[in-house]
Amino acid sequence: MKSEAEQFEKVGTVVYESSDEACRVLATEVASLIRQRKAASKNAVLGLATGSTPVPFYRELIRLHREEGLSFENVITFNLDEYFGLEPQHHESYFRFMRDQLFDHVNLPDSQIHIPPGMVTREEVYTACREYEAKIEAVGGIDLQILGIGRTGHIGFNEPGSSQDSLTRMITLDKITREDAARDFLGIENVPRFALTMGVGTILRARRIALMAWGENKADIVAKAVEGEVTEAISASFLQRHENAQFLLDRGASRSLTRVKHPWLVGPVKWDDQLIRRAVTWLSNRLEKPVLKLLDEDYNEHGMSDLLTECGPAYHLNIRIFNELQHTITGWPGGKPNEDDRYRPERALPYPKRSLFLVPEPMDDVPAVGGTINRLIEQGHRVDVVFLTSGNLGVSDGSVEHFATVLNDLAQGRGSNAWKEPVRYAGQLLGDLENKGPFGEDTAALRRLKGLVRRGEARQALHDCGMGADRIHFLDLPFYESGRYRRFASGEADVEALRECLTKFRPHQIYMTGSASDPSSVTGVCYRVFQSTLQKTAKRKWRSDCRIWLYRSSERPLGSYEIDMAVPMSPDQLKEKLSALSHYDHEPEGVSERDRMVARYYDQLGLANYEAIEAFQEWSE
Ligand code: F6R
Repeated sequence: MKSEAEQFEKVGTVVYESSDEACRVLATEVASLIRQRKAASKNAVLGLATGSTPVPFYRELIRLHREEGLSFENVITFNLDEYFGLEPQHHESYFRFMRDQLFDHVNLPDSQIHIPPGMVTREEVYTACREYEAKIEAVGGIDLQILGIGRTGHIGFNEPGSSQDSLTRMITLDKITREDAARDFLGIENVPRFALTMGVGTILRARRIALMAWGENKADIVAKAVEGEVTEAISASFLQRHENAQFLLDRGASRSLTRVKHPWLVGPVKWDDQLIRRAVTWLSNRLEKPVLKLLDEDYNEHGMSDLLTECGPAYHLNIRIFNELQHTITGWPGGKPNEDDRYRPERALPYPKRSLFLVPEPMDDVPAVGGTINRLIEQGHRVDVVFLTSGNLGVSDGSVEHFATVLNDLAQGRGSNAWKEPVRYAGQLLGDLENKGPFGEDTAALRRLKGLVRRGEARQALHDCGMGADRIHFLDLPFYESGRYRRFASGEADVEALRECLTKFRPHQIYMTGSASDPSSVTGVCYRVFQSTLQKTAKRKWRSDCRIWLYRSSERPLGSYEIDMAVPMSPDQLKEKLSALSHYDHEPEGVSERDRMVARYYDQLGLANYEAIEAFQEWSE
């Protein structure tokens, strides 16, 4: 039975506190399916997905196998998809992914594993796909199909336009899907253009379907698939037509569902300060009216009459929210010394402050907080920037080649002994590059050099924001150094390194990002390390005088109702920040649009009309 809150949802949807919790629930379901089947001397047939989403789910299955004796002997698996033309041993093949993430860690017999054969020739594709369907049918169909969802709304690789009845086939990958894979493949040019995928029809035949989605970047597409019309443009929307399909979401991925985003539209709510601000800004946006011009009838006609009863009339409520929003704006992110700070986001004292910026990867910093760093420095605070990971995975082989060639060229004709070692080093780098090929694992020497390249870029970009090199630090967290995109797992050593760092700086302000990220992304993993570190340092004296400000790097910007501190930028300040970005090998896109968009929110609400704004949310327990 659907609750009133779920009235807009056309397919079963459960929101969990975290992806870990959702994965525990789903893994428990899978375990009991496997055990029930075993008790009846039958097989359990699972449809499996790849990508970052199922990684924590597979980890939980492995844990159940190791610690609770869950056997996979009677399990048969069918993977959703595979890139066309990718060798099974390729680092990014789904075959390799499944081996690394699950198959090599449980007792699943090889003969019971099925993955669409990406290496067939074009002529063989049709037959291979028919055979794949036939194999699924031969074992009695799929009992439980696991899915993720792409930003195009795809399930498997069923890109927009896939029909409800489509079966296993070859498909051309959408541009957005290829862009999302570009990082794994070290550049979009390396991402295959085609893939073999089970069809929507194949998926819908499964007896039960569980779609998982984590992080805010998935929120909009999830809401469309769950609440919108069934459409070929979003293949996940076809799950609405399945009797036993369910979306399992973490809080980030649920954020655009009506019950989460606009709870007052689905039933009575308990109004708190945050919700009131959200409702009023939403109404102002919706009606394209400044906050101060909203009328009683506007509230009444949009499901907020109870809000008026509690906090009205509109005139009072409008002024209250207008003032709240006004008080979030400050040109003094470190607090304004010698001023009444009752209505300012930051306290005036202590002055100067020790402000610490934690940055998951080089390049998450200047685009998001470059203007704020600059202001803090100009206003006399001590600003330190700590890069949590080296970012070396994002540096191309080309940069290493370039460096080694320059070294060799410099050594040319100099014959002296002093050049022997650099030339040997350049030779080693070039040899390592050749041995590993474009997608092989980087050697330690390559990773180190790539890390140094990133460090150089990061220092130059921050230099343009007014930072001295002595205030820039690199933590090189171990989870990153031993991992690969989508497959990171943090541990005690990461938390310990960050704990030591925070204890050394004893900051009055910490700026951090990642609270809304996919938990398996670099920012997501870093945020978890940060959370654990906060727990460990909760009783330290410096913590009682430390405020934590959350920023957004590449994720959706904060909504106007979420912003607790808005640091405006003039056109010149924005220009300076953008020019600092030119130091990066690949300049991040969309930075000015994001900053301008936040400024527009404020303008639309009837507040000041700035060129751009960097926005922060205060962290609370
Ligand atoms: C993977 C698959 C895709 C992914 C989707 C989300 O086998 O079929 O549909 O589930 O692209 O990818 P992630 O989880 O990496 O965000």
